[in-house]
Amino acid sequence: MPNSAGEKFPPAGVDLSQPSIARIYDYYLGGDTNWEIDRQFADKLLKKFSILRPIARSNRLFLHRLVRHLTKQGIRQFVDLGSGVPTMGHAHEVADQVAPGEVRVVYVDHEPVAVAHSRSLLRQYGDEDRHTAIQADLRDPEGLWEKIGQTGVVDLNEPVALLMIAVLHIQQLPAPGSPVSDDLGPQLVATYRNMLTSGSYLAISHVTNDGVSSKSADMLTRIKTMYDSSGSPVIWRSRSQIEDLFGDFRLIDPGLTWTSLWHPEEATITDETPSLEADQSIVLAGAAKKA
Ligand SMILES: C[S@@+](CC[C@H](N)C(=O)[O-])C[C@H]1O[C@@H](n2cnc3c(N)ncnc32)[C@H](O)[C@@H]1O
Repeated sequence: MPNSAGEKFPPAGVDLSQPSIARIYDYYLGGDTNWEIDRQFADKLLKKFSILRPIARSNRLFLHRLVRHLTKQGIRQFVDLGSGVPTMGHAHEVADQVAPGEVRVVYVDHEPVAVAHSRSLLRQYGDEDRHTAIQADLRDPEGLWEKIGQTGVVDLNEPVALLMIAVLHIQQLPAPGSPVSDDLGPQLVATYRNMLTSGSYLAISHVTNDGVSSKSADMLTRIKTMYDSSGSPVIWRSRSQIEDLFGDFRLIDPGLTWTSLWHPEEATITDETPSLEADQSIVLAGAAKKA
């Protein structure tokens, strides 16, 4: 199947025997970088919970407002971990609207389709001196930091905005025979915080079942069961567990809040408004600065 950039997919190494989180999410967002196996899984969920589409779109729009806001605060380097398929716009496009030609971005994902699609779009619309996409696993922070440094696109001795958007609730496939482990958790995030230089930002969005309506809580229980049995297990964290991921970084206004409530004034007139009330949201979002 050719993708929107006209390339034949899937690239080598893509596993089409199981649905993939990146490709399912692309389908929620209305993208076309997904296959039958992904759509079948997503459609089963969407049939029961059509709200998943506006929830995903609200998360991506948070990402856009976040990049806009931090670029206005003077940030000129972004590292987007678990960047996904660039359906609905890439971070560098948003940053370039605010500070044309000034912002550097490294995208990181372990899903080959997401990386191949990002590279293809960057070749066409990016600037190779300022933007790149690498395929890597964020569970190896030191190795990843080295790879990011080697791209020459960002200077890790200077402040960076490190984005972990809708990625930390994804549990990783265990080695055969070993139990699922929550390894995109507090310890891993702390390692990244330590590697960031002063003046950097850490931004996180994360699914929670804390403080949500009983209808949403029930939906989350059922979604978790479905994801867990699909080979892409997930974990929902409480508000305080998500807050703890920021460590001693100072949360900037408005603190940790539902995606749609995070700096709504940063929306542009071209941003669609997803039909999602704040109390239907299940994704908390925030950004914090290292002193
Ligand atoms: C739900 S998508 C979020 C995409 C994007 N950050 C956003 O919010 O629009 C999660 C992404 O994280 C990626 N991911 C999951 N575990 C990862 C890991 N260990 N290393 C790198 N990427 C990972 C998935 O492949 C997927 O593209």
